[in-house]
Amino acid sequence: MSATNILQGRYELISQLGQGGMGTVYMARDLRLHNRPCVVKKLRDDFYREEDRKKAVAFFEREAGVLSQLSHPNIVHILDYFEEGNGYFLVMEYVEGRDLNNVLHERAEPFAEQQVLNWTNQICEVLEYLHDHDPPVIYRDLKPSNIMLDVKGRVKLVDFGIARPWEENADNTHVVSAGYSPPEQYWGAADVRSDIYALGATMHFLLTGCDPVALHASFPRSVYPDISAHVDEVVARATDQDPSSRYQSAGEMKEALVPPTVVLPPVERRRFGGEIVAGAALLAVACLALFLFSRFDAALKAGQEGGRQPGQEDAEKAQLKEKLNAYSRALDAHNRAIMEWREQTSGKKDAPVAAGRAGIAAQAADEAQLTDPDGLPAAADAEKSPI
Ligand SMILES: Nc1ncnc2c1ncn2[C@@H]1O[C@H](COP(=O)(O)OP(=O)(O)OP(=O)(O)O)[C@@H](O)[C@H]1O
Ligand SMILES: [Mg+2]
Repeated sequence: MSATNILQGRYELISQLGQGGMGTVYMARDLRLHNRPCVVKKLRDDFYREEDRKKAVAFFEREAGVLSQLSHPNIVHILDYFEEGNGYFLVMEYVEGRDLNNVLHERAEPFAEQQVLNWTNQICEVLEYLHDHDPPVIYRDLKPSNIMLDVKGRVKLVDFGIARPWEENADNTHVVSAGYSPPEQYWGAADVRSDIYALGATMHFLLTGCDPVALHASFPRSVYPDISAHVDEVVARATDQDPSSRYQSAGEMKEALVPPTVVLPPVERRRFGGEIVAGAALLAVACLALFLFSRFDAALKAGQEGGRQPGQEDAEKAQLKEKLNAYSRALDAHNRAIMEWREQTSGKKDAPVAAGRAGIAAQAADEAQLTDPDGLPAAADAEKSPI
């Protein structure tokens, strides 16, 4: 690295992000692309033996070579690879977030089952992509510190240091991560099922916070009994020591992540169905009875309200009689006034006026009897009118 911390006149190293077995990872910015954030991984250069150094350089070059062929939203993008001074550097996309090992240690408690299933599902999809690649790529180093969790909740694989295209009968290098590598990787025979094992071991760590025991199947439920039997089975099967007893592909493991739905036996279902029908019929009968009763009750009340109260008829008759009396009294008054007017035909000027008043009073009494619900006051007034 140059004294100014600027590589290739372009990548400025800012701070250290991580330190792993293969090298040091720096946060950097790309001066040529408007200071865009990026990550620079520098291969370690403290090898004791020249042979080891050569091997590490070969791995590092292969990491760059494998990454350059891949393009997947859950795999970090490679941007550049170069040698400068005595060092080897790889430049890649900056994943804003933390690796799952750090996240778990910081929160100091394991993750919820649903959360782990979600991430496992995403990783199964990346593994499907890698294993279906031509030629297939075996990741070989799946573990929590190589899985970044970005700010959108998406997981991304970094560190393709020991990933390699799969070659039959190839003399693979025995690179392992204790607890996460399957037995076959110890003698260099990794295949797609080796990544399945590492994924199962990763699930165990995320669900329990405990590192998986090397060269043993994992059972997270033995650590936390409230973990579901289904998830426990998935982890146990993925970490089976025998590759042929594991899920044979990432696709198969992905399907197994979906919890089985509970199916009732047919006899139980029929009995249950019969109970529903009987219950519905009973309810219908009860509703009908309630409806008929309410109709009957309403009719009864209406009858009572519409019927006459005892004594009410007599009162009405008396009222009518009183109205007729008032009317005839008004008529008498009218006749008397006419008679008086005839007797006084002496020609007094106001006599017709008095007769007119008596007529109006009689008419008013008549109208009152027909229009006024009470009727009586109008008739009484007519009687008292100045006739
Ligand atoms: N592209 C990236 N964006 C953000 N952080 C990263 C990125 N790549 C790596 N890191 C961080 O740096 C750490 C080390 O990176 P990496 O795993 O590539 O190095 P390594 O030397 O191969 O590590 P190890 O040998 O322990 O697996 C990661 O665990 C992660 O926290
Ligand atoms: Mg790593």
